[in-house]
Formats: sequence, structure tokens, C-alpha cells
Amino acid sequence: MSSSKKSSKVSGFYKMPVEKRIEFVKEFSDLAEEDVNIISSSLDIETADRMVENVLGKFELPLGLAVNFVINGKDYIIPMVTEESSVIAAASNAAKIARIKGGFTTECSSPLMIGQLQLLHIDDVAGAAQKIMNHKKEILQVANDQDKILVDLGGGAKDLEVRILDSPMGKMIITHLIVDVRDAMGANAVNTMCEALAPILEEITGGKIRLKILSNLADKRLVKAKAVFDKEKMGGEKAVDAFLESYTLASIDPYRAATHNKGIMNGIDSLIIATGNDFRAVEAGAHAYAARNGQYTSLTSYSKNENGDLVGEIELPLAIGIVGGAGNIHPKAKVCKKVLGIKTAQELSEVVASLGLAQNFAAVFALSTVGIQKGHMSLHAKNIAVMAGAKNHEIDKVAEQMIKEGKIKLDRAKEILAEIR
Ligand code: MEV
Repeated sequence: MSSSKKSSKVSGFYKMPVEKRIEFVKEFSDLAEEDVNIISSSLDIETADRMVENVLGKFELPLGLAVNFVINGKDYIIPMVTEESSVIAAASNAAKIARIKGGFTTECSSPLMIGQLQLLHIDDVAGAAQKIMNHKKEILQVANDQDKILVDLGGGAKDLEVRILDSPMGKMIITHLIVDVRDAMGANAVNTMCEALAPILEEITGGKIRLKILSNLADKRLVKAKAVFDKEKMGGEKAVDAFLESYTLASIDPYRAATHNKGIMNGIDSLIIATGNDFRAVEAGAHAYAARNGQYTSLTSYSKNENGDLVGEIELPLAIGIVGGAGNIHPKAKVCKKVLGIKTAQELSEVVASLGLAQNFAAVFALSTVGIQKGHMSLHAKNIAVMAGAKNHEIDKVAEQMIKEGKIKLDRAKEILAEIR
């Protein structure tokens, strides 16, 4: 049976021992024994040494699994790498509520990335810009000569745009090379093309090229996700209204929008990391896009439908791939892609956007009702218990007692530990 036929809906997943959770993933995603071993083991030092310079060791983060997701009618389980407690549970809960009304639906543009070439020292910038556009066909051809494989796959340089910007250093022409990067993140392909074009643009215009580099504001590579959150499950229409009041602040105030979007990125980054993608690129693109109209604002928007349910939407650029980069080297990233069962970079983007929306819904829902501290308590209390020196079964006992007392403090944990010992 393919994973799309299996249900990602699991109750009490958090209560299962780790081995049982791994069994569930193995069964859901048809993983081989070797994949399971990779999930359970640590990155080998030789691979780490090839990935970056001056390697000393490995720095591990927890890899968890969000369940309950339905996206475009297909069930997904989502690997998430994060150091923050509550994030994975919150995403799973949000997905559980979203699936009542059919889950997430998405839209995705073509995987178009932008490369920038900065031209300076030109007297007649308008004339030079025109000359560049006159040579468009030849410029695109040179770009495509750099990556025959990409072109064979249906991708490659597709278009050229020219912008004239005024600056304290004089006028400059910024040429945008628009490249369809198919299933790659695209930085390598685009940067190679831009570097090859630099001398040609200099020759055409007589100017001097400085920067030739991809733009992380990938606003031609947009993804949208949408979901309806059931009002009854949220606690009635008053809860929907409370949610909308809370959300509204993010739509008008950059101070709140930054925190609101940080919550979105809690989900997004965790999957970006799990798949070996570049989370700084995605962060840069997301925040630049959030400020596209001159004021930094929310990446999500919410409204109420005729039934009184909450409708949530997210739109953001996602420069991510499933081929090339660290995702093809890191063994766990490769297994995480198998766990997801995604076939294209666009499908991965759709899952990422849905996860971002789920994460945001969960955070704002908690904030508009009980606050987020309650959800953080349990793991936080366990961590404090460990810091106090609790071992094995003592950890839960100390944590439970502190939660009961509503006082999660290191000195109290030490006292409880002494009492139970
Ligand atoms: C914490 O990591 C994220 C939140 O602050 C997001 C938000 O406020 O919406 C809870």
C-alpha cells in the first residue's frame, strides 16, 4: 500500500515509546531497515568532515515527527528538527483540527529563482538597459549553455528583467536573470549562470559588473496553503473571534508580526533542516517578502467563513530543493525525504507551507486562549528535574509534582528530589 493510502492520524503518538514511533514511521513510509538504522544513529564523522571545514565533531538536535496532516487530500507525516519543546505537538494538534474540514490545500508557482547582476559606471543607463534587453535571446542562451542537464529537465534561464536604481554611488543597472531550477534549490545553477554572464553584460554596455549572485527574495517561487479550522473544535464562535482579534495585531504591527512570523518559522525551519535545505535562505526570503509592501506584516491571514469556521492562509517564497545540496549528502535528510514521500520540490514546498500555517494557527490559538506556557510546562518541568539531578523514573515524579504546585523552579525540584529519595 502506498503511503498516500495510509492515515497519518494517530492519537497519543507522544505517549508511545521511541521504538514504537519508529515502527509507525517505517510502516507508514515503507522504510527499509537501513533507513531506520540511519534515523537512530548519528552522522558519521567522515561525512561531516566533507560537509564543512575544520570539523571537530557533530552537534545533534532532536528529530521528531508531526502527525495528522492531510494536504491536497493526501496523508503526510512530517519530520521536524527543532530544539524547542511544544512545537511538534502543536503542529500535530493543528493538523488534527484542520483535517476535520479536509486538511490543507495548496497552490505553488513554477520554481523560478532570480539571479542579480549589478552594473555600474554607465553614463546612459536607459540606453544600456535597452541594449541588454536587445540581447536577451543571446544572454539566455549563454546562461543555458552553463547547465545542459537543467535545460534537458525543462528548466533553465527563462527571462530577463532590467531595473535602474539610483544610489549614493550613482545610477546602476540591476539585471535579473529568471531561472527555472526545477527540483533544486537553485543557488548553484543561478550563481554559475550569473558569473558566466558578467563579462557579456560588461561588453554589451561598457559598464562594470560588481555583484553577480542569486536573490533570496524568491518572490517568483511562491507557495500558498489554506485550511479551514473547525469552530466547534476551537470551542465555538467566540474562540474564533478571539483568534481573529489576536491575529489582527500581527497584520498591523511589525512588533507583533515579527513574533507571529517567528512562530511560523518554528515549523518551517524544522522541516527545512530535516530535509537538508538552507534555512537561512528561507528565513531571509520569508521576512523580506513579509515587508514587500513597505511595512513588515504577517505571512498568514485569517478570516471567518459563512459557517463561522476560521479560514487560515499563508503565502511565502520557498527556495528549497530535493536534489543537490546537503540534502543529498546527509543520510538523515535523505531518509526524512522518504518519510515525507514527496516526489518534487514543489510538493515539498506545499508541505512546508502547510506546516507553517499549522504552526501559526496552533500558536495564535494557544495565545488567544490559555497562553503558551501551559503547553511548554511538561517538557520544561522535566528539563528542570534533570538539571536538579533526577534520574529515570524520578524525572516524571519531580516534574509532575512541580506542575501540580504550579512552581517550576530548580530549588523546588531539588527539594522534591530529596523528599522522594
Ligand atoms: C514561540 O517560539 C513562538 C510564539 O511566540 C509565536 C507567536 O507568538 O505567535 C508562540
